[in-house]
Amino acid sequence: MLLSPTWTAILYLAAAVCFILALKGLSSPKTARRGNLIGAAGALVAVVTVFLSVKLDNIPWIIAAIAVGSAIAAPVARRVQMTQMPQLVALFNGVGGGAAALVALLELGHSDDPWVRLAIAFTLLVGSVSFAGSMVTFAKLQELMTTRPVVFPGLPIIMAAVLLAAIAASVAVIFTSAIWIAVVLIVLGLATGVLLVLPVGGADVPIVISLLNAFTGLAVAASGLVLGNVLLVVAGTLVGASGTILTRAMASAMGRSVAGILFGAFRGGSTAGSTVASDRPVRSSSAEDVAVLLGYAQRVIIVPGYGLAVAQGQHTIAELQAALEARGIEVIFAIHPVAGRMPGHMNVLLAEANIPYEALKEMSEVNREFKTADVALVVGANDVVNPAAKTTPGSPIYGMPILEVDAARQVVFLKRSMRPGFAGIENELLFEPQTTLLFGDAKDSLGKVLTAVKAL
Ligand code: TAP
Repeated sequence: MLLSPTWTAILYLAAAVCFILALKGLSSPKTARRGNLIGAAGALVAVVTVFLSVKLDNIPWIIAAIAVGSAIAAPVARRVQMTQMPQLVALFNGVGGGAAALVALLELGHSDDPWVRLAIAFTLLVGSVSFAGSMVTFAKLQELMTTRPVVFPGLPIIMAAVLLAAIAASVAVIFTSAIWIAVVLIVLGLATGVLLVLPVGGADVPIVISLLNAFTGLAVAASGLVLGNVLLVVAGTLVGASGTILTRAMASAMGRSVAGILFGAFRGGSTAGSTVASDRPVRSSSAEDVAVLLGYAQRVIIVPGYGLAVAQGQHTIAELQAALEARGIEVIFAIHPVAGRMPGHMNVLLAEANIPYEALKEMSEVNREFKTADVALVVGANDVVNPAAKTTPGSPIYGMPILEVDAARQVVFLKRSMRPGFAGIENELLFEPQTTLLFGDAKDSLGKVLTAVKAL
């Protein structure tokens, strides 16, 4: 016996409330884990409700597909390194967009209502753009292909022609249910996705993932209209809206516009610079010297960045914080909104080592505090402290708000080499008189500094 429409609506409402509470929870590191669980519970309620409320054909096939998907996704999600999370999100997001497009293809012959057919055309196009675009971002981040922008002569014209053809095919899908036109639309959507993402390079790729995430949300919402499923419309709209907000927030934290990110390479302005190490002289010192600087300071501000995540030095940094605090030194962490490779990367990393949230200060709050800091300890960060963002018009990061570590009395960088950060540009701060470098893997260096601080 199937559930009544009333019970189905009540369960869908419960799932929708879970999704909204999940988003609310995800807005703070303190509640993010709970928010994630609430969202997963909402998704479970939604799936079970479909099984209980719709007379489904092919149940063994559906269960087999769920089992295969879960058997692949669960271990991958458990094992993935946090630094690889953006590509995992890209992969899952692409699959979502592709699934929405396939649903729309299967629904093609089921309705003559022009509005439903409009929703089908939209889902086919946007779902396939999202699928292909996400696969290219995955390949870039996984370094299966170059991470630099790929542009070639005539690209803008090809892009415009493909887009126009896609719009024409979308209109055709509204008026005819010929399957081949829908397939042509899918192919044009896939081509649009590839052409949209190829010119995006380096530091901008994670932002495009977020944009494609918004696209998938919209495709899923439209597939909800096709299937007459209110919950899909609600969930898709939430993903579309939150993806759009996140894209804008990330772009503004990098001082860039979304259009500049997507089409910047056409004008020659990309963020993927060189990876060549500088050979200019710098002042480097030993772990013992750094320990003396830290151990006799009153106030230390630690700036974590991508390299801390690579080195997995979060637990050692927590121990160093404790050792310094035991000496009566005030230690706080300065968090840049785009430090690392994904939103909230540093918050999640430091939370793993149980560093209290109160010790984490946002950029707007902490920037005025650097001038009272004896030492700014920059651990595996580069672009987010690079003064070129303020001083060098034309630099790929010009206009990006930065952590103003140059105001601190002493600046210590922990990094492995003189290679630049993600944006591929030199950091003048490395050559300033108040700057010292301790070369080595961040976790090893932090360990040595910790031992030396304890021995003071
Ligand atoms: P980066 O500028 O990429 O600098 C990372 C630094 O860590 C480099 O100096 C690198 O130097 C060092 N490093 C790497 N592995 C290390 C290890 N094992 N031990 C010690 N040091 C290591 O990082 P950031 O300052 O965090 O800036 C983030 C960048 O990503 C920005 O350009 C930002 O715009 C971009 N981005 C971020 C996001 C989000 S949402 N977070 C989204 C899009 C783009 P060595 O190689 O010499 O060690």
